[in-house]
Amino acid sequence: MKIDILLGLQWGDEGKGKIVDALSPVYDIIARFQGGPNAGHSLEFNNVKHVLHLIPSGIFHTDKLNIIGNGVVIDPGVFKKEIEELGPSVDELSKRLIISSKANLILPSHRILDAAYESQKGLTKIGSTLKGIGPAYTDKTSRNGLRVGDILRSDFRKIYDDHVNRHLAILKSYDFSFKLEDYEKGWFEGIELLKKFQIINTEYLVNNEAGSGKKILAEGAQGTMLDIDFGSYPFVTSSNTISAGACTGLGVSPRMIGEIFGIFKAYCTRVGSGPFPTELINETGESLRNIGREFGSTTGRPRRCGWLDLPALKYSIMINGITQLFMTKADVMSGFDTIKICTSYSVNGKECTEIPFNNDAEIEPVYTELKGWQEEISSIKSYEKLPSALKHFIEFIEKETGVPVTMVSVGPDREETIFRKK
Ligand code: GDP
Ligand code: IMO
Ligand code: MG
Repeated sequence: MKIDILLGLQWGDEGKGKIVDALSPVYDIIARFQGGPNAGHSLEFNNVKHVLHLIPSGIFHTDKLNIIGNGVVIDPGVFKKEIEELGPSVDELSKRLIISSKANLILPSHRILDAAYESQKGLTKIGSTLKGIGPAYTDKTSRNGLRVGDILRSDFRKIYDDHVNRHLAILKSYDFSFKLEDYEKGWFEGIELLKKFQIINTEYLVNNEAGSGKKILAEGAQGTMLDIDFGSYPFVTSSNTISAGACTGLGVSPRMIGEIFGIFKAYCTRVGSGPFPTELINETGESLRNIGREFGSTTGRPRRCGWLDLPALKYSIMINGITQLFMTKADVMSGFDTIKICTSYSVNGKECTEIPFNNDAEIEPVYTELKGWQEEISSIKSYEKLPSALKHFIEFIEKETGVPVTMVSVGPDREETIFRKK
């Protein structure tokens, strides 16, 4: 009775959606445990690309159950839009998507607060997706939140108004104009739609199903370097994106966790502000962005690009207890004569492999250069057939991290995935 976890090891957008979708056939249940509509998880099959924000990436497999766990924050307006864009009827989807009664709601006024806070931040702007994530998690931890289970109460409208009035009082001290009504209509329609789904204490379901031998995959959002505790605070999201977050976000014991799959790109990207030691503000960075189509799945913003950062990757592996590494976007690196990997940092002139506490530290990456590969690799189906320079790159990462790379993704499509024995 083990639950496996798949999560991002970098700054998000590592390809979680694609790989969860590709792995779904071997699981019975796919469950999101944190984050909310700030996530954008893309997956492709039959030449169609889908982007999910709140709904777990197992939803396209009709025989799988999907759960939105208690650790997620849900915006009903976004939920409604996403459900409508999926294709299948609400009737059909409600048979394979279950929502935790304990998941907190993102209110329209949380989105406005997010924008108001960000507008006043000047140089410390986080670059939030402005989906209301920070204010919703703030209300959760300060015990002022509204939860999905509350929508079934007869006095829901009254408690909603009380919450909004509290937010409006805060907004009075900000020089920020907004129109609440713009969000509210779709939001309340989303509330009615939510009621058509099963809203239950999903922690019982998850534990019972795991106990009866069902295979469960917990799907992370964002990435370890955006974790509220271990990321480059304050340039982070507001949830625990790490493996421990799966326990609190689904209501399962650490003893129930099996494999912990850590997913990373063959290079690095980051959207929003914050330290990024290996960032390439030059033609190479531009090439990675253009070839890798590195534009945000949620906001469309260009992603900052840079070389693979091993000190950061090793840190993420340590914090999460990663048992297997999955590498994506190897195909984007085809065509480079040489490829750099950062193996340590020089911080204020001193070599170091730890990530400094101070975001302002002057970090110079120390690089190892490896030979690149020129071949197109997206149609390759077995590890052995990959170019030897790419296999050498992978073996270098395995040796440095001590964790096997058991999956290599060579394109965005479900089929462009090479699994390898541990
Ligand atoms: P997520 O947030 O971790 O699910 O990742 P996103 O979906 O935000 O961003 C990953 C992007 O890379 C998406 O556009 C995917 O379709 C695409 N992608 C995933 N794996 C690969 C891969 O191996 N090669 C290429 N070229 N694209 C990939
Ligand atoms: P997925 O699940 C990449 C970033 C934002 C910003 C910071 C805080 O698709 O990998 P927030 O909206 O949470 O207040 O933003 O975190 N961010 C992401 N970056 N992928 C994501 O999700 C992200 N979710 C949030 O850009 O820098
Ligand atoms: Mg994404």
